[in-house]
Amino acid sequence: MSHQPQRLLVTGAAGFIGSNFVHYWLKENPESRVIALDALTYAGNRANLDSVEAHPNFNFVHADILETDRIEQLLREERIDTLVHFAAESHVDRSIHGPDAFLKTNIEGTHSLLKAAKKVWLDDKKIPHRFHHVSTDEVYGTLEPEAPAFTEEHQYQPNSPYAASKAASDHIVRSYHHTYGLNTTISNCSNNYGPYHFPEKLIPLIIVNCLEGKPLPIYGDGKQIRDWLYVEDHCRGIDLILNKGRVGEVYNIGGNNEWANIDIVTLVCELMDQHHPEGAPHKSLITHVTDRLGHDRRYAIDATKISKELGYKPEETFETGIRKTVQWYIDHESWWCRVMGGSYRSLLKQNYNN
Ligand code: NAD
Ligand code: DAU
Repeated sequence: MSHQPQRLLVTGAAGFIGSNFVHYWLKENPESRVIALDALTYAGNRANLDSVEAHPNFNFVHADILETDRIEQLLREERIDTLVHFAAESHVDRSIHGPDAFLKTNIEGTHSLLKAAKKVWLDDKKIPHRFHHVSTDEVYGTLEPEAPAFTEEHQYQPNSPYAASKAASDHIVRSYHHTYGLNTTISNCSNNYGPYHFPEKLIPLIIVNCLEGKPLPIYGDGKQIRDWLYVEDHCRGIDLILNKGRVGEVYNIGGNNEWANIDIVTLVCELMDQHHPEGAPHKSLITHVTDRLGHDRRYAIDATKISKELGYKPEETFETGIRKTVQWYIDHESWWCRVMGGSYRSLLKQNYNN
């Protein structure tokens, strides 16, 4: 069933992927209305949306997804036809130190949005709509080295409190489609990288620490594998799903781009040597630290379904994407200095104290 998103509510719009999505969407669809909603937690930064702030069809709303009545009101007043749900607690290490916020935002928060959507789009009067839930490949658990990549049929086996909370939210979204007929879609994506990525996550942490001459922490042996995708290619996949995806369906999005952590960190060090020769060789900063509890060894996405059904293909090569990303952090020191506040410092203390 095709859908034409015209009036969007984007949750988590001041975070990494949400802000990239808003930039992407307004560039591709300048005529559509975008309401960007965010609670501005430590990970949300209003400045991520500076470049669209003056756009006539853009508006920012400071709100929590748990405020069901407020969401309901927004859906009505703004005549929203498409909700794209990014808002979440997203960092695995934080979920290990304190799972409560993850259960609250990721599970209850998603349910709060579903309740509001059902009320406005189904209960009062049936209105054409789409609810897209942005999820992660981590719900599928971990893969053996030679195992085939995750398809949409893979069993859910989440291993961290973060992954478990996302898995629960996926199931609740599914149930709202199956039980009430809400027009939902879900995407499960692999690791993203690119501009506005909060420097608690591996790639931006490594770049920022190189720039500051600080140790580059590698958990355990560094041989864990992740499948990296440039953030704009994730946004492109969501765009295809919103327009052409079948309701009730799940689509995996990935880059077919598996890297061991130690190799990606070494590559970033080599790029830093070229783009920022002052600290060369940056590789000398690599430090092996205690492994993450319950650390998943390998993620890999099989994106055959979205590619065959919707014609999806990532446009950015890893070579160009990672180079652009390194340069972005070099050019945006004021951005990363600003976002690394108190909550960031306490995470560093808690997570890397040994
Ligand atoms: P992020 O942590 O950078 O951003 C999350 C945003 O949500 C922040 O702006 C934060 O302020 C906001 N938020 C948190 N709690 C909120 C609440 N209760 N109400 C309103 N806003 C709230 O995360 P991200 O990396 O941009 O991830 C976005 C989504 O994509 C998440 O759902 C995540 O699970 C999913 N995802 C991320 C990746 C990745 O590699 N980063 C990959 C696949 C899927
Ligand atoms: O797979 C998608 C997921 O990718 C998203 O759902 C999550 O929101 C996102 O945070 C990301 O999770 P990861 O745990 O894979 O990303 P992170 O950047 O935290 O870590 C990537 C790998 O690097 C992982 O194997 C842990 C390792 N790592 C990470 C940090 C922060 C280190 O070795 N050292 C570090 O300091």
